[in-house]
Amino acid sequence: MVKSELEAHVFVIFGGTGDLTKRLILPALFQLSAHSILQGKSKLLAVARNTELDDIGYRRLVGEVLEGHGFSMDMQMKNWCDECIHYQSIGQGDEKEYRALTQRIEEIEHVYGLPGNRVFYLAIPPQAFAKTVSGLADAGLNTSSGWSRLVAEKPFGTDLKTATAALESLEKQGFSEDQVYRIDHFLGKETVQNLLVLRFANTLFEPLWNRDHIESVQITVSEELGVEKRAAYYDRAGALRDMVQSHLLQLLTLIAMEPPASFDAEPIRQEKVKILGQIAEIGRDDVVYGQYGPGKIGSAAVKAYRGEPGVAPDSDTETFAALRLEIESWRWQGVAFYLRTGKRMAKRLTEITVNFKCPPVSVFSPIKAGCTPNPNKLVLRLQPDEGVDLHFHVKEQGQPIRLSNQRLSFKYADAFGEHIHSAYETLLLDIITGDQTLFVSREEVLLSWRLLTDLLEKKIPVHSYAAGSWGPVEADDLPVKNDSRGWLNP
Ligand code: BG6
Repeated sequence: MVKSELEAHVFVIFGGTGDLTKRLILPALFQLSAHSILQGKSKLLAVARNTELDDIGYRRLVGEVLEGHGFSMDMQMKNWCDECIHYQSIGQGDEKEYRALTQRIEEIEHVYGLPGNRVFYLAIPPQAFAKTVSGLADAGLNTSSGWSRLVAEKPFGTDLKTATAALESLEKQGFSEDQVYRIDHFLGKETVQNLLVLRFANTLFEPLWNRDHIESVQITVSEELGVEKRAAYYDRAGALRDMVQSHLLQLLTLIAMEPPASFDAEPIRQEKVKILGQIAEIGRDDVVYGQYGPGKIGSAAVKAYRGEPGVAPDSDTETFAALRLEIESWRWQGVAFYLRTGKRMAKRLTEITVNFKCPPVSVFSPIKAGCTPNPNKLVLRLQPDEGVDLHFHVKEQGQPIRLSNQRLSFKYADAFGEHIHSAYETLLLDIITGDQTLFVSREEVLLSWRLLTDLLEKKIPVHSYAAGSWGPVEADDLPVKNDSRGWLNP
C-alpha cells in the first residue's frame, strides 16, 4: 500500500520520561529518523511532570536512553537531538499548564514553519488518560489548522463499562474516530501483518481455509518473563485483560476474517469486527486459568508469582489463560479455536497452528480408516524464529511403504536478513501518515470487552503451574476434550 506523503508535524509525547517512551517510542523514532524516513519533518515535544527538565536536559536523557539501546552518540544522533527534540513540563496538569503547552507547540510550529499538524501520544498510565484528554480538549488542542491525532495505548478500559465510558469521553471531548489511533503493538509486528498477505495474496490456502478442511486452530503466546516490575498494573489486570482481550483476539480476527474489499483501514476493520461479533459466548468449561508457582526458566530458579515484588501474597490473579472459542459463521461452524497465553512458561513463543482435517480414509496399511498420524498442519511462527512451516507426509525410503511427517520451512531471516522492523517503527509511521489499518477501532474495543466481560464476572478457579512449564495440567484437557489433538508444544 502506498503511504500518503509524510507531512511536517509536532509529535507530542505525554509521559515523555516514562518507561514506554524510553523502551519503545524513542528508539523507534530515532530509527525512523536515522533511516531518513522522517526527513527532519517530525519535531518531538516530550511532555512530563518534571519541572526541572528543559530542552537541553531532555536531549541529554534521550542520548543516554538511546546509548542504553546500543546506539552510539554520533553526529547523526546529536543532530537529531538538537534539531528535533524539545521538552515541556505539564506540572500538575492544570489549565495554566495546558495554556503553556499550547503556546510551546505554536512556538515550535512558528520556528520550523509547520502547518499545524499534531500527534498527541498518550504514553501514560490508564488512570491519567481521562484527565489528559479533557486537558487537551479544554485547551482546544483537539482541533488545529492542520490535522490533530490522538494515540491511545492499551489497556483501553478494564471491562465493557470502563471501555464504553472511555470511548464516550473521547467523543464528548471532540475527538472523532478518525483522529484516534488505539495501539495494539502486535498488529505492527511484521509477521502479524504477514498473516493477511499469506492468506490473501496466495491462492493456495484460501480454498482450504474453512470448516471443510480445518479441524482446529491454536494460538499460543507464551512468555518466559514473569510479571517484572509491573505488579501494580498486572495484579489487577491478569492474563485475560492484559493479553487475551487485545493481542490474542486480534490474532484470531486476522486468522478468521473474510477477505476485505481492499487493504485499507475501513474494510479490514469491518471484517475484524464481524468476527468479534460472531464469537459464541464462552462458557466456564471453555476456560482454564493458572498462576505460576516457583520453578526454573532455563537453569535459573525463579520465584512464584505470589512472591514477586508488589504482588499480594494471596493474589488469585491469573498469569495463564487458555480458552476454547467457536465462531458462529458459515465458514467456521464447528471449528475449535484455542487461545493460550501465560507468563513464566517453558518458552517465549508466539505461534498459530492451523490443524487440517485427516484424509477421509487412509489407504496405507495398517491404518485403513480414520486418521494418518500427524495430519497436515500449517504453523505460523510469529516470534521468535519468524517463519512458516507446512507439515505434510512423504514416503519413507524403502519397503514396505511407511509415512514420514516432513515440513516445508520458510524463515524470515533467510529471506530478508536478521533485522526485523520493530512494531513501533511501523505503527509510529502509520500514525504520522494517517493510516489506521493497524489500529484497533472503537467497535473492536467494544466487542472484545463484551465477549470477555461475562467471563470476568464468572468465578473461575485458578490452578497452579510450575514456572518453566506449559501451564497447569488442567489446561491440557481443554483441546483433548473436544479435539483429536492436544496442545502442540514445540
Ligand atoms: C504487552 C503486555 O502488551 O505485551 C505484556 O502488557 C507482554 O504483559 C507484552 O509481556 C508482550 O509483547 P511482546 O511484543 O514482547 O511479545
